[in-house]
Amino acid sequence: MANFDSSQRDGFSSKFGVIAAAAGSAVGLGNIWRFPYVAGENGGGAFLLMYLAFILLIGIPVMMSEFSIGRRSQKNTFGAFKVLAPKSRWSIVGLMGIIAAFAILAFYSTVAGWTVEYLVNAIGDQFSGKSKEELGADFSSFASHDYKPLIWQMFFMILTAVIVLAGVKKGIEKYTKILMPILLVLIIAVCIRSITLPNASAGLKYLFYPVWSDITFNSVLMALGQAAFSLSIGMGCLITYGSYIKKDNNLFKTSFQVASADTLIAILSGVMIFPAVFSFGFQPDKGPDLVFIVLPNIFQTMPGGYIFSIIFFFLLTVAALTSTISVLEVVVAAFIEELKMSRKKATIVAAASISILGVFATLSFGQMGDFTIFGKTVFDILNYVSANILLTFGALLIVIFTGWRLGKSHFYDEVTNQGSIKQPLFKIIVFIIRYIAPVAIGTVAIASFFVKDLL
Ligand code: TRP
Repeated sequence: MANFDSSQRDGFSSKFGVIAAAAGSAVGLGNIWRFPYVAGENGGGAFLLMYLAFILLIGIPVMMSEFSIGRRSQKNTFGAFKVLAPKSRWSIVGLMGIIAAFAILAFYSTVAGWTVEYLVNAIGDQFSGKSKEELGADFSSFASHDYKPLIWQMFFMILTAVIVLAGVKKGIEKYTKILMPILLVLIIAVCIRSITLPNASAGLKYLFYPVWSDITFNSVLMALGQAAFSLSIGMGCLITYGSYIKKDNNLFKTSFQVASADTLIAILSGVMIFPAVFSFGFQPDKGPDLVFIVLPNIFQTMPGGYIFSIIFFFLLTVAALTSTISVLEVVVAAFIEELKMSRKKATIVAAASISILGVFATLSFGQMGDFTIFGKTVFDILNYVSANILLTFGALLIVIFTGWRLGKSHFYDEVTNQGSIKQPLFKIIVFIIRYIAPVAIGTVAIASFFVKDLL
């Protein structure tokens, strides 16, 4: 569908569709396995309070900036800056976003592929009777296998591409509208199972009890970094989605709702994971080990574990999928509008080229494990460069653009729908966008060079 007339651009058809798609982007692997352990390690409840403050004070204003840039320009993330700041270098921000999309999707699809393998294993009852050591050995032999993880990664990329290919309304909106409510219901089901286990309160305490002495400068930075990654801000993902939002949509309300949904699911993920972990006397290991080794071990001993393991890996797969489609759409929208490709061609070219990069990320755990640059594997480099450099600088430049270049009247028009709705917080929002957000994000951006694995 190659049309370049913005009045005929594909777009979201309903308010719920906008929320499902944007929350679908935000809710992902970042919420389900990253948030819980980062919160647990960095002061539990104390981290949570900081995290909430960052979501409210910085996340929502940045999200509104991205939506406004997108809706104002009616363009993809690269084209948006060309339209709003002609003959300037601002489109470099859009280009950075597209590069970030390549990098994120390449390594994200590796982990997404693992979730599908584990879904299949869960269905096949593969965890039962195995010790933690055996499950650990299973995970490493799978991740380093010559072709199995590649097949699942390709499968996931094809699934992502099929939805993106169908378009914004008939693909992204249609599927996220179905998948997001399912996700919520399933998470609540697993939460109930988890908090009714014996000694569940130890896990809840780990997540919620504020340990102020665990708060360090580093954990403040972690909270901001996690908030940014989790909300999908900083690479124009929400600029692209913003360009599909109708003119009468209240962008403040939408941003608030999306951020609330994202935060709710992050917290529920903690409630789903920690009571179970503590109930069975495990330590909350971080990263891949928690989800791919500790949890399978718990599932096989827990009453109803077989069914809950299937639900858990299914919901992880769904959460990843609604995020990967949003990242692929960034590249596809840019290819359609900037390179004048059809949606079909753009999707195939984008998905295929990202997959090639993705192969290197996946092989980092096997054949290419010894191939390192500055001591990091391809997977680590893609993760590090996209999150620590491209996203933080992207978010910084986006707020500077909105606050200082877009012009207050354009932003006002977007936030109030041409003056037709009241926005009593407008002055505060502008103040945050101009001063508070740039300073806060700037601090993270600079600090991320010095603190390893910040985001
Ligand atoms: N927010 C998603 C998560 O938590 C990941 C993601 C999707 C993302 N699109 C993004 C992160 C754009 C940064 C920018 O898993």
